[in-house]
Amino acid sequence: MSCIIKTINLSRQFKSGHETVDALKDVNIEIQEGTLTMLRGRSGSGKTTLINLLGALDKPTKGYIYFGGEEITQLPEAKRDLLRRNKMGFVFQSIALMPLMSAYENVEFALRIAGYGKNRMKARVEECLSIVNLAGRMHHRPQELSGGEQQRVAIARAIAHRPKVIFADEPTAELDTGMGRQVIRLLKNLTGREGLTVVLTTHDPELLELADCVYTLEDGMITE
Ligand SMILES: Nc1ncnc2c1ncn2[C@@H]1O[C@H](COP(=O)(O)OP(=O)(O)OP(=O)(O)O)[C@@H](O)[C@H]1O
Ligand SMILES: [Mg+2]
Repeated sequence: MSCIIKTINLSRQFKSGHETVDALKDVNIEIQEGTLTMLRGRSGSGKTTLINLLGALDKPTKGYIYFGGEEITQLPEAKRDLLRRNKMGFVFQSIALMPLMSAYENVEFALRIAGYGKNRMKARVEECLSIVNLAGRMHHRPQELSGGEQQRVAIARAIAHRPKVIFADEPTAELDTGMGRQVIRLLKNLTGREGLTVVLTTHDPELLELADCVYTLEDGMITE
């Protein structure tokens, strides 16, 4: 197995007024390709801050981030944009599908933005919706789907352009435990099936057993 993400002494401070918050302090982690890694910790422990840094949505105050062997810590915005668009996919807690578009159209829209070839589009949209077991719901709009089904559409949308890594910040927070488990199982299966790496944050201790690797955060630091 090879390491796809690595951080060295990764730190992030936030300044608001006269106060400084050390949201992350000297975080050193390694994420192996093709695995499901979970970040856990109490509210305010730094999970979102860390996942945003790994996903190149934010820049650290100190330290280094490597993605696929390349240092991405201080890449200019245009390059970070490309990196996110080509190599990464994102799933969020609030599902944020386009409300007037069907499941099919939501995934197709994301592929169009990614510049996916027109003639391959239909097959890929259908394939991704089948992977998340929604072949029978393709033409439903979000409001005609359950919460878990909506989150599965969001996953289909996130994987459609074949990213290397999916980042998911509390993807199960708005689902009951049973549905949350289904969604995590699906992400776990994707790590085998599409060779994907998945990094997610969770509050739910019952879901941790599905992880290949778990990192615990406490006050911005990794504890063992
Ligand atoms: N933009 C910001 N400005 C100032 N402080 C921030 C900012 N974003 C986060 N923080 C602080 O950094 C710390 C870590 O926040 P973070 O959102 O990473 O926690 P979390 O583990 O994701 O929490 P939760 O489980 O509630 O989502 C918190 O103390 C938070 O108040
Ligand atoms: Mg958070």
